Amino acid sequence: MKTMLISGGTSTIGEAAVRYFTQKGWHVYFGYNTGKKKAEALEAELGPSVAALHLNVQDKDSIKTLASSIDELDLLINNSGIFSSFLTEALEDAEVGRIFDVNVTGLFRLTKAVLPKLKEGASIINIASVNALMPTFGSTTHYDASKGAVIAYTRSLAAELAPKIRVNALAPGLIAAPYLDEKNEIRKIFEKRSVLKRMVTSEEVAHALFFMAENTALTGAVIPLDCGYTIG
Ligand SMILES: NC(=O)c1ccc[n+]([C@@H]2O[C@H](COP(=O)([O-])OP(=O)(O)OC[C@H]3O[C@@H](n4cnc5c(N)ncnc54)[C@H](OP(=O)(O)O)[C@@H]3O)[C@@H](O)[C@H]2O)c1
Repeated sequence: MKTMLISGGTSTIGEAAVRYFTQKGWHVYFGYNTGKKKAEALEAELGPSVAALHLNVQDKDSIKTLASSIDELDLLINNSGIFSSFLTEALEDAEVGRIFDVNVTGLFRLTKAVLPKLKEGASIINIASVNALMPTFGSTTHYDASKGAVIAYTRSLAAELAPKIRVNALAPGLIAAPYLDEKNEIRKIFEKRSVLKRMVTSEEVAHALFFMAENTALTGAVIPLDCGYTIG
């Protein structure tokens, strides 16, 4: 049985991935930070092949404890991420630092701690964003730059860890979620520009992650999954 760890298992993307890989017969460890209740419910629903573990990517002790409870891994998905929106004149250093500490440094921390657990032939998938490839909402420079760093990190790490471990990034477009109703301005911008005229579903993200995990020729790749947003 193949084994994986995904951070941010309580997120929209994380939950879909946990469900998808479980259905495919994988053993899934997933990290939760503040979402203990949701994590426990997901773990209970999906049964013994799923294990929820506390993980704060800003806290080295939390990462160390998590790593010590995992044996070998075939896949690490760095999915934890936070978002905020500020115009440059209102953007404080502390907010830039907060976003980078989770979205970038957190990913360095978790990858380093888990690296000894990754088997020969294993892979790492980092969740970037289409925002790193095409400026989107006009007030997210700090978030967009953090996801640009994720892409650069992915390509550099892929070169460093080859041929033992493959490293790739997925750059999703806007993911459909209940809070994005038809009146939502971000949804309107995304659907107008994407050539498929719709958002991406979290199930489509999970499907792409599975392909990336299984395809042994793929490394150093950055795959936009964006309903054609970047060509719109
Ligand atoms: N949603 C989109 O449209 C979209 C588009 C492109 C890329 N992305 C990226 O995809 C990833 C998942 O996005 P999402 O929208 O599905 O997420 P989300 O629903 O906003 O949830 C954020 C996730 O990150 C976790 N997290 C936050 N701070 C953390 C920390 N310090 N340590 C560990 N985990 C932490 C949260 O855990 P708890 O809930 O347990 O605290 C939660 O699971 C993110 O990297 C995001 O930037 C999202």
